[in-house]
Amino acid sequence: MTPFTAIEDVLDGCCEGKQIGVRGWIYRKRKGKDIVFLVTRDATGTIQCTVRKDTTSWADAEKVTIESSVTLSGTVKRDERAPGGFEVSVDQLKIVGLAETFPITKDQSEEFRRNVRHLWIRSRRMNAIMKVRGETLRLVHDFFRKEGFAEVSPPMFISSACEGGATLFGLKYFDKDLYLTQSAQLHLEALIQSLEKVYCVAPSFRAEKSRTIRHLAEYWHVEAEEAFSTMDDLMSLEENLVGYVCQNITKQCGKEFKALGAKAKTLAKVKPPFSRITYDEAVERLRKKGSRIKWGEDFGFDEERTLAKEFGPVFVHTYPKKIKAFYCKTYRKKPDLVMSVDLIVPIIGELSTGGAREDDKIELLKRLEEFGLRQEDYEWYIDLRRYGTVPHTGFGLGVERLLAWMLNLENIMDTIPFPRTVRRFYP
Ligand code: 4AD
Ligand code: MG
Repeated sequence: MTPFTAIEDVLDGCCEGKQIGVRGWIYRKRKGKDIVFLVTRDATGTIQCTVRKDTTSWADAEKVTIESSVTLSGTVKRDERAPGGFEVSVDQLKIVGLAETFPITKDQSEEFRRNVRHLWIRSRRMNAIMKVRGETLRLVHDFFRKEGFAEVSPPMFISSACEGGATLFGLKYFDKDLYLTQSAQLHLEALIQSLEKVYCVAPSFRAEKSRTIRHLAEYWHVEAEEAFSTMDDLMSLEENLVGYVCQNITKQCGKEFKALGAKAKTLAKVKPPFSRITYDEAVERLRKKGSRIKWGEDFGFDEERTLAKEFGPVFVHTYPKKIKAFYCKTYRKKPDLVMSVDLIVPIIGELSTGGAREDDKIELLKRLEEFGLRQEDYEWYIDLRRYGTVPHTGFGLGVERLLAWMLNLENIMDTIPFPRTVRRFYP
């Protein structure tokens, strides 16, 4: 049997005039009098395959339906009329799985496509997005290894909240009430006292009830934590990570960027250092631009986009204590402000949140009380301040937001194969 060749390699001109095998699915079909055109797809691309009436495969070519799986063999010919410049002149076609009438056709709504997501992921568009997603994750791992961070695996079942009760998913864990994790941060803080520099890429869960274009109920979270580090170290780490991914992804996924109509050139220009402004400066800037935001309020999507429009990717740091989480470290001389930093980018707004963690036991106990959190639920976390506490920083960045920004996608739902939102948990 002829071995199978990837369609991408055929289109690159590897096999002109040669006999090859292809396996995949029927993407498009058009029938003439004495010829059937079968555009076939595999993981790597699509190619036009022609079956003529005088071959033994004619009956199967007539019968085969869209999205049937097939294997075929034939001769590669250069043909300027064929999309991609090459076609396969088929002498043997074998139907592996004959498809029923495929429910997805042209001009159907986004809503419909999301209802049949298990089938829509076969589209060229989703194929390209998923490849960019995979490569992005690979680059994230490459970056952290290069920087000497150890990859760790945090738990998904947790007993106390990281990011506040409002978005916690509760569940029955044997006879106890537990939650799904919102962030690995607290456990990463424990791990740095062994490994110093750690990171993970793991799912986080948020019971976000509002429907927005940038919130999922289940998303993938890149999180890192570093012992003995400062806010400056943190911002440098983040901008180097984002810069590394943006520059390399456009090189590695040029074809996919093109297929998706995404602007690789603009992205390749994303390079550190990013602008760094304080919350106070951001508020002043926004008010000058006509926003009614008052000091002490958190930024909404509109404010974030205004800032990103002016600065490009920008770090906003040093926030009012009241709008940030209990674990944020206060400035000792200005205790109403915390060492917290958001990275804000065009299109999607907030891409990451990070900061210095409260590393003093007494201060942490005060913060827990201010937030109405029970000390007993956080005893293990307080222990980290009892036994060899260190100044440390870390951040969390949403993978889907990163992709939506890089690929200029309107909705975060398109960046993940099977999105989960308040209304969507099937398929
Ligand atoms: O800003 P968040 O809530 O911060 C934390 O969870 C910190 N504990 C992270 C850390 O310091 N280790 O979430 C971090 C990032 C956000 O900036 C955003 O990119 C993403 O996670 N994110 C979401 N992405 C998709 N859907 C949601 N519902 C998200 N919530 C947060
Ligand atoms: Mg945040």
